[in-house]
Amino acid sequence: MPLTEEEIGSTATSTPSKKFECLEDLPGVGPATSKKLQEMGFHTIESLATATARELEPAGISEKKALDVIRLARGNIELAFTRADELLKQRQTIDRLTTGSQTLDNLLGGGLETQTITEFYGEYGSGKSQLCHQLCVNVQLPVQQGGLNAATLYIDTENTFRTERLVQMAQHQNLDPEQVAKNVIVADAYTSDHQVFLLENADKIIKENDIRLIIIDSLTSHFRSEYVGRETLALRQQRLNKHMHKLIRLARAFNAAAVVTNQVMAKPDVFFGDAVHPIGGHVVAHTSHTRIYLRKASRGPVRIARLVSSPYLPDGESIFKITQNGIEEVEEDYRKGR
Ligand SMILES: Nc1ncnc2c1ncn2[C@@H]1O[C@H](COP(=O)(O)OP(=O)(O)O)[C@@H](O)[C@H]1O
Ligand SMILES: [Mg+2]
Repeated sequence: MPLTEEEIGSTATSTPSKKFECLEDLPGVGPATSKKLQEMGFHTIESLATATARELEPAGISEKKALDVIRLARGNIELAFTRADELLKQRQTIDRLTTGSQTLDNLLGGGLETQTITEFYGEYGSGKSQLCHQLCVNVQLPVQQGGLNAATLYIDTENTFRTERLVQMAQHQNLDPEQVAKNVIVADAYTSDHQVFLLENADKIIKENDIRLIIIDSLTSHFRSEYVGRETLALRQQRLNKHMHKLIRLARAFNAAAVVTNQVMAKPDVFFGDAVHPIGGHVVAHTSHTRIYLRKASRGPVRIARLVSSPYLPDGESIFKITQNGIEEVEEDYRKGR
């Protein structure tokens, strides 16, 4: 059934509705329902706003009540039907986060975007985790310096997160290393189930810690090692899809940048172009908004980043380097000699 004028109009033009602080402020949500919702991973109004009625079913509330609750939550954070011109205004609420390299930022149209997923994929040692560490530091910078003045949630699946590395990068930027380390909340994910669970329950931590960067490093490693054999592929893809959608919804609800890393697999049948492709098939390809392929240059600390897919930017390449200081710009003379 199409939506009535009233339903459409009320979302787009309504005066700012009452602000709800916690689940129990929502009319119709009592302590018992609130408890159940929280057990299911919905701790905040923001996460309810992007839920589907079916997802709320296990809390024991009717579909109608679920829809009412979701609508109220949406009103609270102003998610609405919008015209394209308004959408453009809404896109202006998207913020940018610097990678630490001006040319890489330029390739991305001015840095990583909030409210979307950016995927870095590449071989072992190509710099995916180094970039993630650097972003944890940069997100803490003031807006004028390319940061978001905010904290990070880092879901580490390969046990490669190192506070020592953050400290080196922080020192280089004359930031207080202790303070920088305090603003990175690290969660070790032991299995794909655990990884999914951590993200499903992340909303409260994100809100309480003023987190605006969510990293999953790596998105696919557990899935890849646990789901072997063709018969498990469909289930793996279904679970990855749900996981990525949760990430998108968190990024939108909290105006956060979401970053995932991904490994590559050899393409045995390719003779021209790249003989590798990222894991995760169509699911990851379609849910990552911006994909960047990282590879090592022929020598030294230089890495090549190729923008492979973006909703609005042309493909292209840029280079950066990884040093003790972190992610840095490559000097002009190297560029010329390249
Ligand atoms: N302290 C450091 N100083 C200089 N280069 C470093 C430092 N730490 C890591 N690197 C570089 O980063 C590489 C590892 O990159 P990493 O991001 O871990 O790869 P992956 O893509 O597998 O996540 C190392 O091989 C090294 O070249
Ligand atoms: Mg890594």
